[in-house]
Amino acid sequence: MSRVWKIGVAGLGTVGGGLLQFLAERPGFAPAGGQAVVTAVSARSRTRPRPVDISGLAWFDDPVALAVSPDIDIFVELIGGSDGPAKAAVEAALKAGKPVVTANKALIAEHGAALAVLAEAADVPLLFEAAVMGGTPAVKMLREAMVGDDVAGVAGILNGTCNFILSEMEQRGASFADVLAEAQRMGYAEADPTMDIGGFDAAHKVTIMAALAFGCAPNFAAAEIEGIDQVDLLDIRLARDLGYRIRLIASADRTPDGVAVRVHPSLVAQGHPLAETRGALNALFIEGTRIGRIFIQGPGAGAGPTAAAAADIADVMTGARRPVFQAPAVGLKPFVAVAPTRRVGKAYLRMLVKDQAGVIAAVSETLAECGVSIDSFMQKPVEDAGGVPIVLTTHAIAESVLTDAINRIEKLPAVLERPRLLRIARI
Ligand SMILES: NC(=O)c1ccc[n+]([C@@H]2O[C@H](COP(=O)([O-])OP(=O)(O)OC[C@H]3O[C@@H](n4cnc5c(N)ncnc54)[C@H](OP(=O)(O)O)[C@@H]3O)[C@@H](O)[C@H]2O)c1
Repeated sequence: MSRVWKIGVAGLGTVGGGLLQFLAERPGFAPAGGQAVVTAVSARSRTRPRPVDISGLAWFDDPVALAVSPDIDIFVELIGGSDGPAKAAVEAALKAGKPVVTANKALIAEHGAALAVLAEAADVPLLFEAAVMGGTPAVKMLREAMVGDDVAGVAGILNGTCNFILSEMEQRGASFADVLAEAQRMGYAEADPTMDIGGFDAAHKVTIMAALAFGCAPNFAAAEIEGIDQVDLLDIRLARDLGYRIRLIASADRTPDGVAVRVHPSLVAQGHPLAETRGALNALFIEGTRIGRIFIQGPGAGAGPTAAAAADIADVMTGARRPVFQAPAVGLKPFVAVAPTRRVGKAYLRMLVKDQAGVIAAVSETLAECGVSIDSFMQKPVEDAGGVPIVLTTHAIAESVLTDAINRIEKLPAVLERPRLLRIARI
């Protein structure tokens, strides 16, 4: 007789509700012959309407009590948040020897190393496919498909909200604030959008990608994070004139100096697959030293996370097992971050200056004194810009040199505001 796997689901919101619906509509979901049946749930409100009737399921006010219930075989955490009830419940489930499936990128990025130790000590899987790129199988790609190669780096668009905002600003010529307000009305952005627009959500995801790619412990504290809240429509227009689009690029690179995990609004050449990734789509390049470049693209939200959580449940049922982060969790070291002084790359620098003689000479002189090598230079009057924009792109240069130049240019009498620095993506 085929085994029935009793599933306990904590969190019945977008993803949890979707998972319940999926499993209710697919009673025959039976990987490896076993059958998955949700038997118990936990959420904040017992009375809130849910996509399926939960009256016949065991109810737990406390997700920790659900996590350790002897009546479940798999614990699915879909509450969210790096700490609080999600963390307590996942820890409790692993200590009780329950396989755990979660979509919680914040939890895995910030506490994944300790949770992996618990999982491997209890010899149970800890799976989180839905945590990165929703239903687009980025985690499986790194955890399973790439084990035969050495990954040199990953880079991509990992936050659909930011990509939607940047694409709309570009296409409609609308300001950041206007597009954000519209995204909130349409449900693309949260009422408190800080996690998304501040770059933290993408940083959680790329931290997980770095751990999987390089076989190290996630080290969220080492991620360098800049969001899109300072991206000006003026820069989107000027970047377009230079042949680029602005995207929030999350990247992790293995370098001789350590691992660089970064999230920045970056210029990507028009025609590049990341520049052409529009709307709420996610996309990721994985650079394998033998395989070469792999590109995946797909929705990062919507029904995808539900499908990914179901795929993780299927993996538990079939008995598929790998170390949580490529290598045994005990002894896994957090990656060493590249020191700020060792960061090198091409850059876009935009200044707003007074319309007067000698300004360009003063700026050029300062750049030359700092040792900044200029690749292209553009001065373009733009209506309502509040000054004359000067834009330049540099050859690859140490960021410390650029920062020094920016500090000095800002002090020039004809310069109206601190020059804006954007990185040019190296992908
Ligand atoms: N939404 C997406 O597209 C997406 C994509 C990928 C990953 N994820 C991740 O999936 C997870 C869930 O996201 P979501 O969008 O589904 O969130 P959500 O819609 O806000 O749902 C959260 C659920 O958690 C429940 N909850 C909150 N505090 C609780 C507590 N103390 N005890 C028990 N239940 C509690 C809530 O209960 P009530 O319903 O009673 O308030 C709600 O059902 C997060 O980690 C998120 O990052 C989401």
